[in-house]
Amino acid sequence: MLEAYRTPDRLRARIAFHERYAGKGEDFHRQLFSLVSERVEPAADARVLEVGSGTGRLWTMNAERVPPGWRITLTDASEGMVESARGAAADAGLAASVTRADVQGLPFGAGAFDLAFANHMLYHVPDLARGIAELRRVVCPGGWLVAATNGEAHLAAVRDLVAPLADVATVHGVEPLSFTLENGAAALGAEFGEVEAVRMDDALEVDDAEVLLAYLRSMVYLPDEPGPEVTRRVSEFEESVRRRLDSGPLSVRRSTGFFLAR
Ligand SMILES: C[S@@+](CC[C@H](N)C(=O)[O-])C[C@H]1O[C@@H](n2cnc3c(N)ncnc32)[C@H](O)[C@@H]1O
Repeated sequence: MLEAYRTPDRLRARIAFHERYAGKGEDFHRQLFSLVSERVEPAADARVLEVGSGTGRLWTMNAERVPPGWRITLTDASEGMVESARGAAADAGLAASVTRADVQGLPFGAGAFDLAFANHMLYHVPDLARGIAELRRVVCPGGWLVAATNGEAHLAAVRDLVAPLADVATVHGVEPLSFTLENGAAALGAEFGEVEAVRMDDALEVDDAEVLLAYLRSMVYLPDEPGPEVTRRVSEFEESVRRRLDSGPLSVRRSTGFFLAR
């Protein structure tokens, strides 16, 4: 399990950044739900799965427009995320079954779902082909998979800021992704006959150094006992981020979207 997702804290720092700066456009999970609803019309009692559901945000952000008859199953490989999604679904009044499951070995029968979501998670899966084959297996013939992911240019300005710390800390999120808007159609095409890509690109004007730093810290894993050199480099890095934003907002391109496959 990726250390970043053992508890929801790091994911929450990233969500807070997007919530703060995506204010002008529609929220990602709201927009995703709208775009999928325009293209797919599941039955009123559809069986709907999300793998890697994280904090369950897709559902809490769309609670009032989820058809009441949908039978929703949320899964995540991390127990901390499962607990978080279970609490969020209950708070939002959604009757969802929430269980721990790895997408590489789903505990469901063939064709058990009419619609499955795998949002911003396939690039974490060690055996991507197996994860996609599992999704193909559990989605019924004619059913749909929605797989949201990022493009190669996503948050490049943010990645450039944190990259210099890579020689004193482990920096996650700067390595190329295994499943992107550029290469994902080929990976899904190995299992699904029809794959459509929908882009949702935009740009953020980031002006709050502390919100940006919280996001950057969510990418950085310091040694257990950082020595004086590491501490000095981290404080220099934080100062350089503050100085950068003192000189004006940082324009950050988001390259994101989803695949619709069946
Ligand atoms: C970036 S978060 C996305 C969460 C959610 N889908 C969303 O859109 O907010 C990635 C999630 O995938 C989960 N994950 C990573 N590898 C997984 C795997 N092999 N099987 C199931 N879930 C996995 C992580 O625990 C984490 O909750």
